Amino acid sequence: MRKLADFFGVLAAAVMLAAAAPALSQQPPPTGPAAQAEREMVQPGNNAPVWRDVRSGAPGYTTVQGIETGVLVQSRGQTWREARVPIAFWGGLLVAVALAGLAVFYAIRGSMGDVEKPGARMIRRFSPADRYAHWLLAISWTVLAVTGLIISFGKDLLLPVIGYTLFSWLAILSKGLHNFVGPILIIAVPWMFFQYVRDNGISAADFKWFGNIFGYFRGKETPSKRFNAGEKLVFWVVLTILTTILVITGLVLNFPNYGQGRSAMQNASMIHMVAAYIAMALAAVHIYLGTLGVRGAYRAMRFGEVSEHWAEHHHKLWYDEVKAGKARQKFADEVEKPATGEARTQTS
Ligand code: HEM
Repeated sequence: MRKLADFFGVLAAAVMLAAAAPALSQQPPPTGPAAQAEREMVQPGNNAPVWRDVRSGAPGYTTVQGIETGVLVQSRGQTWREARVPIAFWGGLLVAVALAGLAVFYAIRGSMGDVEKPGARMIRRFSPADRYAHWLLAISWTVLAVTGLIISFGKDLLLPVIGYTLFSWLAILSKGLHNFVGPILIIAVPWMFFQYVRDNGISAADFKWFGNIFGYFRGKETPSKRFNAGEKLVFWVVLTILTTILVITGLVLNFPNYGQGRSAMQNASMIHMVAAYIAMALAAVHIYLGTLGVRGAYRAMRFGEVSEHWAEHHHKLWYDEVKAGKARQKFADEVEKPATGEARTQTS
């Protein structure tokens, strides 16, 4: 019995050795000029050894000075090219779903916040500096979002519709605008951040607000201070985190002559794409609420004032502070007393 077990043990070891033998004896494929010369003898026109050398990523010799100039083909570029496809697909889908969802919501619900009554006092909600900072950011950001979408999806979605000539012009214009408008955010983001950060502190009330997010979209708002939790999400996630990431990665891509290699630019490109799609989907909701979604919101950012009824309905805690004289924002008739002494009333 013992002998039989030994026999099978030896047999199993022999089988395993035989199976492993080809792998053990396998040599790395030949590379280098000698290997290529040899290959030419047996298979003329087969350049595999040369291309193996090129794809190895090891720098060759060149008189051109600069980062990676000796690396003819960087194989990781292929991985980056392939990774871009699913990122663009899912990112594009996210933005499309957000836009379609908002369109359906608007079709069903229409604009929210029918709260205005004639003769209301106005409150100075945004100072001129608040508004200039916001519009510098919003206009440049929107130009970047639209041109970014054309750069990403124009070839697939617009070219078949508008043809080569028009698309060529549009693509060149989009790329130029994207590259030149981007750096404006270096000023706009910090300006906006410091202008608004005071009223964007996070508290337990903000979680309560999110708990009632469906109520918000049905017109039953949880009382909030100057900004509600949804706006704070835009402030912290879209502006502070994602737009800062977009600016940094955008600069890495915009100025390739500062010593960053191809890998750094590929990483920057992928991070830029992911941040852009998430930011665009969230910003779409914000822009919708700031224009069509909530009556009176756009007027606030355009002219700086809201009616007391608007303030009471949308930001009850802030309204109470304004009434008690505890907020930095005041009733318009208290800020600049009209010559007649009459209280300023809502005009639109
Ligand atoms: C065309 C595009 C945009 C429009 C029409 C728009 C509209 C508005 C409006 C009406 C408000 C005032 C809301 C209120 O009174 O409570 C506002 C506030 C604000 N917007 Fe925009 N916006 C746009 C783009 C953007 C973008 C792209 C960002 C960020 C990247 C942004 C960030 C903010 C922030 C941070 C606030 C103040 C809320 C807070 O600080 O919590 N906006 N926007």
